[in-house]
Amino acid sequence: MRLIAPSVLSADFGHLADDLEMINRSEADWLHIDVMDGTFVPNISFGFPLMVPMRKYCNKPLDVHLMIVHPEKYVERFCDAGAWSVGFHLEAVDDPMPILDLIKAKGVRTCLTINPDIDVKRLVPYLDKVDMVLLMSVFAGFGGQKFIPETMDKIRFIRSEIDQRGLKTLIEIDGGVNTENAAQLFAAGADVLVAGSAVFGAKNPEEAIHKMKCC
Ligand code: DX5
Ligand code: ZN
Repeated sequence: MRLIAPSVLSADFGHLADDLEMINRSEADWLHIDVMDGTFVPNISFGFPLMVPMRKYCNKPLDVHLMIVHPEKYVERFCDAGAWSVGFHLEAVDDPMPILDLIKAKGVRTCLTINPDIDVKRLVPYLDKVDMVLLMSVFAGFGGQKFIPETMDKIRFIRSEIDQRGLKTLIEIDGGVNTENAAQLFAAGADVLVAGSAVFGAKNPEEAIHKMKCC
């Protein structure tokens, strides 16, 4: 699959409805929503109040990426707020299984995420238990960082583990994605590319989305 999920973190929050209309018009497949708590990551973004306009004005599925401690306390509220998928970090929890079950019980798709310093092999036991894995290609916390090239081998590794098992689990890549590296990422086996600054910082965001998707 070749899906593009612009990250609303880099949108203009003073004109959020305009940016969401652009997303609606564009070839973007999902809207990626970065929730940061200032504890799991050294930055705070936004929370439930912004889920309301995003659900109201955006007609693409909302792909929620929780960069928070204790995701078990909040995943159900994000499901109720209209998330299409909810992901949280493996390294933020002791046991992801009960939290995945909370999300599944809401009929929402599940995603497990790891930062670049977490061994990608730790995702393998969960490949048949989630709808998607998200490999961070920068350290979670801020938009606009430089893509970490070592991510490429991790994508190939996870792709082969998924294919060997005949699974449909999607691979999402988040951080430093742009029109220059999108083709390589898809070729390595990525299914979904998240892009914040490469979309909202572009002169023509719709064209940037098109270039990444059809590269
Ligand atoms: C980083 C977030 C990313 C971020 C990507 O913690 O998870 O989704 O918005 O931004 P860019 O595409 O600018 O690296
Ligand atoms: Zn993200």
